[in-house]
Amino acid sequence: MATHEADLHPVWLRERSQEAGQVEATNRQRLYTPRDLPADLGIVTAAVTGEDLTVAFTDGHLTHLPLVDLAVALGWAPDPEAPPAPEPWTTPLDPFPYVDWATLGWTAAEADPRAVLAFLTAFFRHGYVVLRNTPAEPGTLRRVADRLGYISGNNFGWIFDVRAEVAPTDLAYTPIELLAHTDQPYRRPIPGIQLLHCVCNEAPGGDSTLVDGLAAAQALERAHPDLHAAVVATEVEWRYDMGTDTVVDRGHLLEYDRFGRFRRIRFNTKLDAAVPRPGDDLDAFYLGRRHLTEWLNDPAHQVTFRLEPGDVMFMDNLRVLHGRTAFDPSRGHRHLQGAYIDHDGPDTMYRLTMRRLRAEHPPTTVRTMR
Ligand SMILES: [Fe+2]
Repeated sequence: MATHEADLHPVWLRERSQEAGQVEATNRQRLYTPRDLPADLGIVTAAVTGEDLTVAFTDGHLTHLPLVDLAVALGWAPDPEAPPAPEPWTTPLDPFPYVDWATLGWTAAEADPRAVLAFLTAFFRHGYVVLRNTPAEPGTLRRVADRLGYISGNNFGWIFDVRAEVAPTDLAYTPIELLAHTDQPYRRPIPGIQLLHCVCNEAPGGDSTLVDGLAAAQALERAHPDLHAAVVATEVEWRYDMGTDTVVDRGHLLEYDRFGRFRRIRFNTKLDAAVPRPGDDLDAFYLGRRHLTEWLNDPAHQVTFRLEPGDVMFMDNLRVLHGRTAFDPSRGHRHLQGAYIDHDGPDTMYRLTMRRLRAEHPPTTVRTMR
């Protein structure tokens, strides 16, 4: 068994206490503030007793901290409820990640928890799934979105119609080809997950494409680290301006946290403009953006498929880019409905499903599903 060592701060240990009076019993939120602890808080004694670390503090408090929880908090053991980590993909998944809506159910009570876990595992790993066999009727998407999370309104409405229009408020509402893009990089917050529900898809063309932005970022970093660095460093402004809606935000095409972990891609080349600053290497930025555009729109890296009536494309808008081929609206009707939800919905659904399954079965049984 591996051994670990850590210097643990007295406040860090003190604030983990779940003893009576420390946290509210229902929501487990802390009942005191940093001002209520002595600035010079120290530890009198700390010893392992059974399954706990028992700690006595200089303010007189005594707590028993489960070792298993400390191991998770310190990263020594995986969080058993944490959604799976993303797995970059560069070719279509085989088999295609279809999920039968009937296995998820319209309410948590009628869902098969193992099917829910399988659906969410595929989504968190690959950034997309297609839900099949929902009713192919306008308005269905609202119910689907409500089942999976909290619907997020935006300048196109709570539910928006994607079809060719005479005065389109977005190029999505024309019949032209759409290159791989993420939606609404100009908004705060950027929509987390997009749902596209197919009501009918009878026009020639209009096939859907998806591509992995995480894999694209990794490919650029491997092949051209200097261009990748310029793309990461250069600030970009996105602007959506319809006269009625004017939304502007700044950020970066590729965003990582300070530990180098990928956070998101914002990629929509019809709306972006670099924000030049002295010392910026815009040659490298534009070359890097060109490389990304070519990689993301290379059919070898994309999955192309056709949405059938009742299908719902469910994708991570902070990671996976979507597009579509051109279609001919004079030769058939094409009508999709779209909506966004935040990541909180699938995140909490995964954690609660894991909690339920772990309560019902020995943990080793459930762990094999991940
Ligand atoms: Fe889009």
